[in-house]
Amino acid sequence: MKRKISAIIALTAALGCAACIQSTAQAETNEANAEKTSEADSGDSSAAGAETGVFNFETHTVLLNSGYEMPIMGLGTYSLSDEECYNSVTALLEAGGRLIDTAYMYGNEAAVGRAVRDSDVPREDIFVITKLYPGEQFANPEKAIQDALDKLDIGYIDMMLLHHPGENDVKAYHAMEQAVADGKIHSIGLSNWYVEELEEFLPQVTITPALVQNEIHPYYQENDVIPYIQEHGIVVQGWYPFGGRGHTSELLGDPVISEIAAAHGVTSAQVILRWNLQKGVVVIPGSGNPDHIRENLDLFGFELSDDEMDPINGLNRDEKHDWY
Ligand SMILES: NC(=O)c1ccc[n+]([C@@H]2O[C@H](COP(=O)([O-])OP(=O)(O)OC[C@H]3O[C@@H](n4cnc5c(N)ncnc54)[C@H](OP(=O)(O)O)[C@@H]3O)[C@@H](O)[C@H]2O)c1
Repeated sequence: MKRKISAIIALTAALGCAACIQSTAQAETNEANAEKTSEADSGDSSAAGAETGVFNFETHTVLLNSGYEMPIMGLGTYSLSDEECYNSVTALLEAGGRLIDTAYMYGNEAAVGRAVRDSDVPREDIFVITKLYPGEQFANPEKAIQDALDKLDIGYIDMMLLHHPGENDVKAYHAMEQAVADGKIHSIGLSNWYVEELEEFLPQVTITPALVQNEIHPYYQENDVIPYIQEHGIVVQGWYPFGGRGHTSELLGDPVISEIAAAHGVTSAQVILRWNLQKGVVVIPGSGNPDHIRENLDLFGFELSDDEMDPINGLNRDEKHDWY
């Protein structure tokens, strides 16, 4: 996504605003990135037009601590074959969606890249997330990063995550930090890191992750983890918003969710995604169905009241649907 804060750099310098030039740990090692970060961290919404980590329901984006804007809803591509993936990303982009989540492990980075290149949407308006996987990729992270750049073939990577904790994860993260400094990756983050893992990991790295992507759905809400991550200025993104394949009918058919959906004339899927957004959680529902993809972007014509959020919050069972 486009950087929107270059004007603020000039404004900050002109005004000499102390609050706007606060330094961060990031600033010490990566000057270019730090310029963006310090302004984003200033929270000067009148100048920046956005406050880090706060969802903008007008633009459907959030400003990351890296200084880049990311859409708050998009498409997940886990388990989509190359053809399904290409068609789904194409459908997303045609419908106005701009956020795509892929990973080395999904085997479809090349299909994502092809769909992005074939689209009429300008590259800078699209935000692609990919991930490095533990094992060989963490052991040789520079090669793994280059492989992702080559497979995607879209110039730069908007966001790269470590897929989950594992041997050499700090080494792999340091390689991603270097790739940020080299301009190959714009923002970096983590996936499947929880409070304990973050407490151990964060002191060992320089660039604060811009994003943590974890399993989040009404039956597994991570109510202890989400505020912890957000308090660190990190945006939270949820995977398996519908519980993941094999669990979606139970979640989409849940009577509490269905009743709220009927009251608004929307679907259960839309209620679940909107509930996430109102909790400050970015959504990347997976789908190979263009109708679902369009539906999953149509989240801004209704709002859930506290009396509707509360019963959904009450559905938590701490029921994890995958092992990591
Ligand atoms: N970081 C990680 O470790 C991790 C792990 C798992 C997943 N993820 C990411 O999170 C994304 C989401 O997870 P997921 O795709 O596995 O599971 P999900 O989004 O919870 O569920 C996907 C299922 O929901 C169905 N669906 C989608 N939209 C629907 C709608 N509007 N109405 C009814 N059904 C709908 C899809 O069927 P149709 O194809 O028919 O629409 C598909 O069967 C993944 O694609 C991946 O990008 C990350």
